[in-house]
Amino acid sequence: MAVKPQITAQNELPADSPLAAELVRITELTAIAAARLRGHGDEQAADRVATETMHAELQKLAIDGTVVVGQGPHDQSECLYVGEKIGSKRGPKVDLVLAPLEGATICAKNQANSISAAAVAPRGSFLAVPKIYMEKIAIGPGYPEGLLRLDATPAENLNALADAKGVPISALTVCILDRPRHARLIEEVRAAGAAIRLIADGDVVGVIHTTMPEETGVDIYMGCGGAAEGVLAAAALACSGGQMLARLVADRPGQVELLRKAGIGDPRRIYGIADMVCGDVIFAATAVTDGRLMKGVRFSKSGVTTHSSAMRSATGMAQSIETSYRTVGVATPW
Ligand code: FBP
Repeated sequence: MAVKPQITAQNELPADSPLAAELVRITELTAIAAARLRGHGDEQAADRVATETMHAELQKLAIDGTVVVGQGPHDQSECLYVGEKIGSKRGPKVDLVLAPLEGATICAKNQANSISAAAVAPRGSFLAVPKIYMEKIAIGPGYPEGLLRLDATPAENLNALADAKGVPISALTVCILDRPRHARLIEEVRAAGAAIRLIADGDVVGVIHTTMPEETGVDIYMGCGGAAEGVLAAAALACSGGQMLARLVADRPGQVELLRKAGIGDPRRIYGIADMVCGDVIFAATAVTDGRLMKGVRFSKSGVTTHSSAMRSATGMAQSIETSYRTVGVATPW
């Protein structure tokens, strides 16, 4: 029996919507603000300044927006909280998934792959997930649909991927968050013969890395991370192509009830990308710290340079953007 979709896009964005360019400008300004605190050891301060910057810039947009996945519930965050209304209200009705600073700890330590990221789509297009964990497995584009199974063993999935890629398992690299909860997964992946890239934080970038294995050296993402980050990663893959399977992890007291309140009746449901993101999605990300796909923010005497990615699912647009903001006195936006 077909599973009822939980999400439906309720309207469309105009074909000539300027939102992609506007969104990337916002992630640029947010990344610049966070980068000023990069390597200073204070992840909360970096997260706060990123959140405030993104909030202030988003409010200038001509949209009738609602935060669907943001900085948590209203009682835990003053801005970019779930349900917050965003924009001038005089534009398209859209939902937003926001990560002003994905990898705050990475930013505070000035390690690789901290980004500012955001996704926008017509109202109803994103799965609204509470603050909870999510099991995830993802690969990039170019593989047969249905290649992976969330309930298969790591060896079975790696076998399928190796066959499809035409390489032995030993040629594959799996990206996994370095957490004690992944001890068994790590053991099983190593026993199957694949290499592992352990990351300290930042699994949105971990998933995105699977879309460009030649550049990143990552073929597949496996493991359990934030559900919010899962929806954001799904938004990126909805634009770039690729496959992702996910399941929420409600294993603590009260979490099943939390999901029920969020409209998720089946806590064990397996989601594909189209179950987490539908409609015309726009995704933008700017690197705060250096990564394999994007250079982090660079400050110089004359200004600041950022590296970003902007994508739109409906048009297939994918841009890699280097922007320089020259210091222009009081009008300097950063
Ligand atoms: P930050 O809180 O430092 O931004 O970390 C983000 C992150 O690493 C995500 O990328 C990941 O999904 C999640 O945290 C993992 O959560 P946990 O640190 O609890 O394992």
